[in-house]
Amino acid sequence: MFQLSAEQYDTLYATKDYVREAHLLRERLSRLDPSLHTVLDVACGTGAHDEHLCRFYEVDGLDLNPAFLEAARRRNASGRYHVGDMRDFRLDRLYDVALCLFSSIGYARTRVELVRTLTCLREHLTSRGVVVIEPWLTPEVWEAPSVRWDQGGRDGGDSIVRMAHSSLREEGTDRVSVMEFHYLVGSRKGVEYSRETHEMGLYSKRRMESALIEAGFTDVHHEADGLTGRGLYVGRVGRTNS
Ligand SMILES: C[S@@+](CC[C@H](N)C(=O)[O-])C[C@H]1O[C@@H](n2cnc3c(N)ncnc32)[C@H](O)[C@@H]1O
Repeated sequence: MFQLSAEQYDTLYATKDYVREAHLLRERLSRLDPSLHTVLDVACGTGAHDEHLCRFYEVDGLDLNPAFLEAARRRNASGRYHVGDMRDFRLDRLYDVALCLFSSIGYARTRVELVRTLTCLREHLTSRGVVVIEPWLTPEVWEAPSVRWDQGGRDGGDSIVRMAHSSLREEGTDRVSVMEFHYLVGSRKGVEYSRETHEMGLYSKRRMESALIEAGFTDVHHEADGLTGRGLYVGRVGRTNS
C-alpha cells in the first residue's frame, strides 16, 4: 500500500491526464453498449478518474487505502466508497462496468491472486457487464535491475521526486516486479525523505487473457494502446468468445 498521503499521491501524478482518460473510457464503453450506467472502480485510489466519470455514470469505488478513499469521496460525493481488498471482497450491489485502472491489477502479485481478483470483479457484474483492466507491464519489457526517477508537482505548490530501484523475483511460474521507491517530498515546511517497497505481478498478454477467461469472462480482447500506452483488456459477462 502507498505510504504517501492522498495529497502527496495527487501531487506525484499532478500531470496525469485523468480527464482525457475518462473521456476515452466513456467512448469505448458507449461503443460496447450505450446503456451501461453503473461503474465500480476497483483500486480507485483518490478517485481521480471517478471525478470525471461520475458526470456520465453512477460510480462507486473500492480501495485498500482508507485515506485515498476520503479523497475519492470528496471528488465524487454521490459515490459509495468501500475499504476492501480487490483479491477478496463482497459488496451488496452489481454493476454494469468494473474498472481496474493505472496498472493496479499488478497488486494481484501471483496468477492465483490474479484469477481470484478477476473472479471477484466478475461476481460484481450484471449479466451484460463489462470489465476493463489497464495492465501493469509484461515480463518481456520489465528491465531489472534498473534505476529510474520521475517527479510530480504543480507550479508554486508541493513537489515530489521519486527514485525507483527495480528488480525481479521469480516465484515458480510467477514473475514479480519489486520496486523500492525513495521519495523526496518538498513543501513550504521543507523536504522530507521516505521510502516504500511495492511488489507487482508481471503478466504476459497470454497469461492475462487466460486468467480473464478462467475467471469467467468472454469476448476477451486486448487493445495495444489503451488509455496511456499500457494497453487495455476488455471482457464481458454472459457472451461467447468470437
Ligand atoms: C497506481 S494506484 C491507482 C489508483 C487509481 N486507480 C488511479 O488511477 O489513480 C494503485 C491503487 O491500488 C490500490 N491497491 C493496491 N493493492 C490493492 C488491493 N489488494 N485491493 C484494493 N486496492 C489495492 C492502492 O491503494 C492504490 O490506490
